[in-house]
Amino acid sequence: MATGKYEHLFKPLKMAEMPGQAQIFKNTGNADVNRWLNGRDHLEGAELNFSWGFYTGLGDWHPGMDPHTHPYPECLVFVGLDPDRPEYLGAKIQYCLGKELEIHTFDKPSVVIAPAGFLHCPSVTLDVTSPIGYSFFIISLGADPTTRWLGDGISEEQMKRMQPEPGSGIKSPMNSSFGKKRIHISEETVTHGHVNDRFIKPLIPNMLTLTEGDKIQYGEMVQGGRKPGPGMTESAVWMFGKDLEGIDVNFCWGIQKRPGLWLRGPGKGAHIHPHDEVLLFAGTDPSDIDYLGAEIQIDMGPEHERHIIDKPTAVVCPAGLPHNPIVTRWVDKPFGFLLMSLGARHETTYVD
Ligand SMILES: [Fe+2]
Ligand SMILES: [Fe+2]
Repeated sequence: MATGKYEHLFKPLKMAEMPGQAQIFKNTGNADVNRWLNGRDHLEGAELNFSWGFYTGLGDWHPGMDPHTHPYPECLVFVGLDPDRPEYLGAKIQYCLGKELEIHTFDKPSVVIAPAGFLHCPSVTLDVTSPIGYSFFIISLGADPTTRWLGDGISEEQMKRMQPEPGSGIKSPMNSSFGKKRIHISEETVTHGHVNDRFIKPLIPNMLTLTEGDKIQYGEMVQGGRKPGPGMTESAVWMFGKDLEGIDVNFCWGIQKRPGLWLRGPGKGAHIHPHDEVLLFAGTDPSDIDYLGAEIQIDMGPEHERHIIDKPTAVVCPAGLPHNPIVTRWVDKPFGFLLMSLGARHETTYVD
């Protein structure tokens, strides 16, 4: 249980549970359960909103509503839940990209990159082959979730339902607007070319095979040798702005199954970044999104104030605030770790 000066930076995923509101996006292909945290309401104003959820259903995620755009870029990340097979998604996804309405399909863990204003979706789950489904997270670079829906299949009633009651003072979890000119998706309007291929990239584990191009992305983290500890998973993938069509984010994703220290040294192991960072510790049990199945300790601040994480939690590390080391104390069930850093490079400076 987090206590102390930095307790407010620990955000249990459960804080974003939205029983009624979540129904807006409740369609067969969409999440069985998810949590969506944003900078405005949950993340200390960070220019970020992100989701985490479990998926087993087939079909369109938002029927009739797409394509859509945002005023900020986002990454849409599809991952599997088998800690021993990071290359296995367990699903086949169809994704529509760009003004060309170009149809793509993939069945490996992948990131879809949508720059600001770029048309994307429908997202359609064509097949789910893993008996426990798969996971998906959004990394969106805006504190206030905002979407413009351009599909021609949205009813007036649906539009009304997606807006908060006028005068109610309630902030919508998603600010929705609707295009004047609507787009119809059908076999006659979509295309099957390769103009937008570069907006979908496979996730390939690269934690233990840093290239020279990767090394310069980390700043001091690789000076004098970067020494992973026993708690670090080899299945993790780190993608930088250079891998994500130049957008200002870098993220690391992996399923961790071993206890121990994550990174060895230098010194006492605390570091800072020039950009805000959010660390998500998520469970991998689709039957209980609020179960972590591990106990992890992380130090915050120059005082090394120690915090314990034992439920799915996002940790906000504002720019310049020292944090780390991280130690996984024990693991009852492999857990997911997602690092979201709001710069193209993961510039890191050790402070003690
Ligand atoms: Fe989107
Ligand atoms: Fe960090």
